Amino acid sequence: MNEINSSFRGMGSILAIESSCDETAASVCVDGKILSNIIASQEVHAKYGGVVPELASRAHMQHIVAVVDAALKKAQCQLEDIDAIAFTQAPGLIGSLLVGAQFAKSLSLALNIPLIAVHHMQAHVLANLIADPKPSFPFLCLTVSGGHTQIVLCESPANLEVIGQTIDDAAGEAFDKTAKILGLPYPGGPLIDKYAKQGNAKAYKFPEPQIPGLDFSFSGLKTSILYFIQNAGSSVVYKETFVATEEERKQFIEKNLADICASVQERIISILLNKLKKASEQTGIKNICIAGGVSANSGLRNGLTSMGEKSGWKTFIPAFEYCTDNAAMIAITGYYKFLEKDFADLGVSPTARAEW
Ligand code: KG4
Ligand code: ZN
Repeated sequence: MNEINSSFRGMGSILAIESSCDETAASVCVDGKILSNIIASQEVHAKYGGVVPELASRAHMQHIVAVVDAALKKAQCQLEDIDAIAFTQAPGLIGSLLVGAQFAKSLSLALNIPLIAVHHMQAHVLANLIADPKPSFPFLCLTVSGGHTQIVLCESPANLEVIGQTIDDAAGEAFDKTAKILGLPYPGGPLIDKYAKQGNAKAYKFPEPQIPGLDFSFSGLKTSILYFIQNAGSSVVYKETFVATEEERKQFIEKNLADICASVQERIISILLNKLKKASEQTGIKNICIAGGVSANSGLRNGLTSMGEKSGWKTFIPAFEYCTDNAAMIAITGYYKFLEKDFADLGVSPTARAEW
């Protein structure tokens, strides 16, 4: 595959594959250090306003060989140097998961090395163990992605417990659906982040849901944003008392895009951070991490840092490349499973939905 043979075998060298949604990714981790993190994003979905599952699995098949090859090259190693193959087993799009799972199983069989099945959401949490400084256990992690919003209590790499989660939409969906209402392309989270930087977060006030315990809800917020835009920001914002014309809505959005984005983002962040604060108070844990695609949001990153300073927390925020979907997080999780000899057999199947 390449000329350089550095022989990492025996040092816990893991090749990891991630293919749960619309990124085909591979990474090599040796002795707990990430040596490569290659991601091929699928542009094909942009014009459909969301991920098209059938197109995603086809694109994974097209990309996977080149992505794995690039990950090995960047790490300056060869397949023969690898001790185990880790792959995302769940949750995700079933057709996409199948491509990565079959590829990983074939490599495991051909190289006669162990196979490691990784839960994508656990891997998002353990992305916090990739770079120094690392959180010490126990820590809390707010995991916010396109499909999940969770507060996870982490006692060790193998002992993770979900202590709060969304009862309807995920935080990433709140960003993406707001973007869709505003006529922005998918995925809208990064664009809302961008426009919010130029806007006034106090311009509009959206409601904060009153959900007991450590659970979240974002569907009410989505509805209030929809009515707000349908009414072109008229003062009665949460009822269908007045429906503006298409033209009025367009002009309202155009004129106030930055303020709308900043105000929506502010509310999503306050919902997330208020629950995280409650979780810290309830558990007494002050090592606090964030993870998942939405943790790339600059407002959330700043908000966590300033709440951490006020509350005496030690906060940990993964580098951008380890927040959104990537294979380095699968590799580091695979490494800890390798140390525990937590291997899967070749009969393991990917699953679209999976508790842990
Ligand atoms: O973790 P991830 O890459 O994929 C899933 O496992 O779902 O998360 C994707 C989500 C999308 O909803 C995307 O809009 C959101 O993360 N996201 C952001 C930002 N970057 C990605 N949301 C807000 N601000 C960002 N900068
Ligand atoms: Zn993810």
